[in-house]
Amino acid sequence: MTAPSKSHGRKAIRPTVRPQELMSATPDLHGVWKAKIITLFPSAFPGVLGESLTGKALQEGLWQLETVDLRQFGVGKHRNVDDTPAGGGAGMVLRPDVLGEAIEHTMAGVRGNWPMIYLSPRGRPMDQQMMQSLARADGVTLLCGRFEGVDERVLEHYGIQEVSLGDFVMTGGEIAAQALIDATVRLIPGVLGNQASTEEESFSSGLLEHPQYTRPAEWKGRTIPDVLMSGHHGKVAQWRREMSAEITRSRRPDLWRKLSDDDG
Ligand SMILES: C[S@@+](CC[C@H](N)C(=O)[O-])C[C@H]1O[C@@H](n2cnc3c(N)ncnc32)[C@H](O)[C@@H]1O
Repeated sequence: MTAPSKSHGRKAIRPTVRPQELMSATPDLHGVWKAKIITLFPSAFPGVLGESLTGKALQEGLWQLETVDLRQFGVGKHRNVDDTPAGGGAGMVLRPDVLGEAIEHTMAGVRGNWPMIYLSPRGRPMDQQMMQSLARADGVTLLCGRFEGVDERVLEHYGIQEVSLGDFVMTGGEIAAQALIDATVRLIPGVLGNQASTEEESFSSGLLEHPQYTRPAEWKGRTIPDVLMSGHHGKVAQWRREMSAEITRSRRPDLWRKLSDDDG
């Protein structure tokens, strides 16, 4: 493999305040969780991750983001990254040699617990447990596919896990990567103002969340349940537990069954 130049595959840093400048091409900050993203569309990042709490936390160095432009590793004059599928069929497949170089460049110097994930409709569906485990890692490398996907040998060779956003097919892995990063980063201490909210929200206890209300007390003839206005903390907590159970049982019998199985 030819040694890439120092800036190879990375976004250049320019003195602007555009969101992409939030992504660091600087050395890893020690102990700071980092997402490295291999993509044909680096300008899609940080995208929505540059907004609100995740954006503020990125700016404050509570987590880091680095994009690696797959095109920079393409072959030939046109920097080709794909080729036709072996055995025939529609579409194009991302080449293993191109992906291999990009992955080795991205993973050079990576230490510790650092999973490599390929966003793929064939993958394990994302869930809160996965995000909790990723938030405890030192960082993650995300490979965003395009076209018909990636050459299978790359997944085997590097032991890459496949992770899915859901049972549907998108044109690329970038949106799934942003969903995964958003759900993970908000679990990193200090990113959310109020850490208690991640402890109470949907999935953290295995249940979906109870309904939420706020002022005004009456809106279009609809009132807030009396118990929430009673000021009785014990009764409020009990109502919320019952509503969580009811909503989980009726909307997600699969989660409800899992909970009963775990208890039993
Ligand atoms: C058009 S899809 C390829 C679909 C592939 N031929 C298949 O049938 O499984 C192109 C890329 O989008 C991404 N992608 C599509 N749907 C996804 C999903 N549900 N979750 C995560 N990534 C997805 C993957 O990175 C994939 O390589």
